[in-house]
Amino acid sequence: MSDALLDRIAAANDLQELDSVRVALLGKSGEITAKLKSLGSMEPETRASEAPKIHALREQVTAAIGDRKAALEAADLERKLATEKIDLSLPAPESVSGTVHPVSQVMDELAEIFADLGFSVAEGPEIETQWYNFTALNMPENHPARAMQDTFYLEPRTPDEEPYVLRTHTSPVQIRAGKDRGAPTYLIAPGRVYRSDSDATHTPMFHQVEGFVIDKGITLGHLKWTLETFLKAFFERDDVVLRMRPSYFPFTEPSAEVDVGWSMEKGRRVVGGQEGWMEVLGSGMVHPRVIANCGLDPDEWQGFAFGCGIDRLAMLKYGMDDLRAFFDGDIRWLKHYGFGALDVPTLSGGVSA
Ligand code: PHE
Repeated sequence: MSDALLDRIAAANDLQELDSVRVALLGKSGEITAKLKSLGSMEPETRASEAPKIHALREQVTAAIGDRKAALEAADLERKLATEKIDLSLPAPESVSGTVHPVSQVMDELAEIFADLGFSVAEGPEIETQWYNFTALNMPENHPARAMQDTFYLEPRTPDEEPYVLRTHTSPVQIRAGKDRGAPTYLIAPGRVYRSDSDATHTPMFHQVEGFVIDKGITLGHLKWTLETFLKAFFERDDVVLRMRPSYFPFTEPSAEVDVGWSMEKGRRVVGGQEGWMEVLGSGMVHPRVIANCGLDPDEWQGFAFGCGIDRLAMLKYGMDDLRAFFDGDIRWLKHYGFGALDVPTLSGGVSA
């Protein structure tokens, strides 16, 4: 191949220039393409001797352009690596510092509110046995209630292992904490739960907080007062009104779904007032079988329990409308809805930051 051609390829200083050279040589009306086209009008003898040369030239040029391209790309990467270096050990400037996710913020608010009522925080595993997630909560095998929640089952490790599940609710913590702590017990258990469900208001992983109280002489009145006190403190309004509707959960008897009153403010539905109702949690008096499964005597101890979606609480309080955005990790969303690391909720300073 002529040095002149090689020089032109080598002279291309960036990918754009190289592409212009490629078009000038190999493009539709490129120099080498013209040579290939000229084969058609040659005498058969000339063509026989010229064709292999022209084809070889095209291959060489193609290879040389490929090499140059690789070299330019490598140089480009080197340059980027050298100039875009970040030192992760440096303190983050304000412009890139992280925020506290609204779910974490709400969990801190809940812990603060309930600590003030004498509740402690309990945790349980997210990979749970079916006994804790269902059976101990009065949902024996083949109980239709097991089908109420779209459960993720884990692959058993041996043919006779009963599959573990991703916990479908925080209620198994009732049993774990009940067994560990005995009675009296006043606790909340916030955490991740999993159900096979996905749309604008459902994600396969979401957050719940369980409330669980065991003591002597506990009544539905204690449940209602606790929920009212909690929701008023959380939404920071005195006009929060609750409505309890009879419902069914296998682990509580009687069971009630709790609605909270909303009203329209500046075109938005906010909690408070009574223009309409929306459901915020499930609750009830702890079923005697559940108390027994905690190792306690149901004739001696009573209790109440409730379970509430944390993401939903965050959406209602802080005004987001798409649950999926909670888990996208989009830095702009986090900047907008996130909280400063030092905005710690306190009852005296206001639970919301
Ligand atoms: N575990 C129930 C759910 O996820 C909520 C609940 C908790 C209801 C405790 C009653 C008592 O739907």
